[in-house]
Amino acid sequence: MTAAAISQLHPAPPVGGGTLTMDDLVDLHRPHDRTTPRVRANVVASVDGSATAAGRTRDLGGPADLLVFDLLRQLSDVVVVGAGTVRDEGYGPMRLGGEAVAWRREAGLPDHPVVAVVSGRLELDPTSDVFADAPVRPLVLTHDEAPHAARSRLDEVADVVSCGRDRVDPRLLVQALVERGLSQIHTEGGPALLGDLVAADVVDELCLTVSPNLEGGAGPRIVAAREAMALRGLALDHVLLSGDMLLTKWSRRR
Ligand SMILES: NC(=O)c1ccc[n+]([C@@H]2O[C@H](COP(=O)([O-])OP(=O)(O)OC[C@H]3O[C@@H](n4cnc5c(N)ncnc54)[C@H](OP(=O)(O)O)[C@@H]3O)[C@@H](O)[C@H]2O)c1
Repeated sequence: MTAAAISQLHPAPPVGGGTLTMDDLVDLHRPHDRTTPRVRANVVASVDGSATAAGRTRDLGGPADLLVFDLLRQLSDVVVVGAGTVRDEGYGPMRLGGEAVAWRREAGLPDHPVVAVVSGRLELDPTSDVFADAPVRPLVLTHDEAPHAARSRLDEVADVVSCGRDRVDPRLLVQALVERGLSQIHTEGGPALLGDLVAADVVDELCLTVSPNLEGGAGPRIVAAREAMALRGLALDHVLLSGDMLLTKWSRRR
């Protein structure tokens, strides 16, 4: 898969414009001001709104989705992911490929973004690849009431940071990351974490891939807030097309 298989539908491409290059994709997604903290999420959903197929995202994605998924990691300072997704998807180390590392060096960024796992119960295996093979010491974002023994085990492989009394408070999460110089915050979900982030209204941008599939209704939605909330208005930034897959980007209308 190369970027050449992705074309732009909105805003209308320049006359003569066709498929996008990797540089075009970077320009469409790069933060214009890295000093202003921003929270961006990237998710994939079936046409009927499911965030999973048979409990995972693998069958919903495709080469173009994967390309943007990797690019969004490349552009970020920190990748925040819920413990459920780490467990269900078997997350590996947050290690970028050679071209992405070269791009980051050119941009004056560290070789790899930091991974930050959000968990209250801390049922995370310190020997799993996401921790043991991490190129940069990971963060675990938890709360004051998290189990002490599990916390001590994870202390060996990660910086464990408390961001709330009995739950991770999304505003304290953002604050903790920005204080560490990690202002371009990217989250890969999952639905429960994204639900909390959206409910707290800290999500500035959403990249949503619409996967050309119907799932049938058993899977969760991409955002699973714990309580009803007011609508969060969005403005459409762009729509890209790759085969039958739509790659959209939205910004929070404030
Ligand atoms: N379609 C997509 O783009 C997409 C993206 C990601 C994941 N997924 C799918 O989503 C499913 C997992 O869903 P999920 O909702 O369980 O995922 P999740 O949001 O990644 O994980 C939920 C877990 O994260 C921790 N957590 C989240 N918010 C917290 C908070 N405010 N305070 C403390 N802990 C918090 C808790 O961990 P503890 O239980 O450890 O306390 C909670 O059980 C998987 O099937 C995965 O494949 C889909």
